[in-house]
Amino acid sequence: MIYTFEILPMNLEQAGYISSFIKKLLVDNKISKMVIRRVSIATYEAEINVVIHSYGGKCVVDYNEKQLKIVFSDTGPGIKNIESAMTEGFSTASTYARENGFGAGMGLPNIRNSCDEFDIQSSDKGTIVTIIFNL
Ligand SMILES: Nc1ncnc2c1ncn2[C@@H]1O[C@H](COP(=O)(O)OP(=O)(O)O)[C@@H](O)[C@H]1O
Ligand SMILES: [Mg+2]
Repeated sequence: MIYTFEILPMNLEQAGYISSFIKKLLVDNKISKMVIRRVSIATYEAEINVVIHSYGGKCVVDYNEKQLKIVFSDTGPGIKNIESAMTEGFSTASTYARENGFGAGMGLPNIRNSCDEFDIQSSDKGTIVTIIFNL
């Protein structure tokens, strides 16, 4: 099954919608709590990143009984230095995002640690984060 979601920039009210949807999908399919916990952490952080750091984008969820693949893509401005962005504590989050509790700089490192396969590509045209979980 494939599910596609649009992600609007700076829409903090919508943030968390996709991770909740995926969690419900996994609960309904009786996936183990430990896997659900890892998926929830990674998808929430990836979703928030598109909301607070990008011009907006989309998320494509590809689920089958063996594997869950989730691709977050946006339309820019991209990440200048991926290595810095992957460092724990590194954040360029806006004052607005910080005032709303985001911007600890732990999102990307936690995403990478939570999933089985991780890929990030970025240019000024946008960022693509791919995360895969073996089920
Ligand atoms: N989709 C994105 N578009 C542009 N920049 C991003 C995106 N995702 C992450 N970043 C950059 O990587 C940094 C680190 O991300 P992250 O570890 O999630 O920390 P935080 O979101 O708390 O700042 C962000 O501060 C931002 O500079
Ligand atoms: Mg983040």
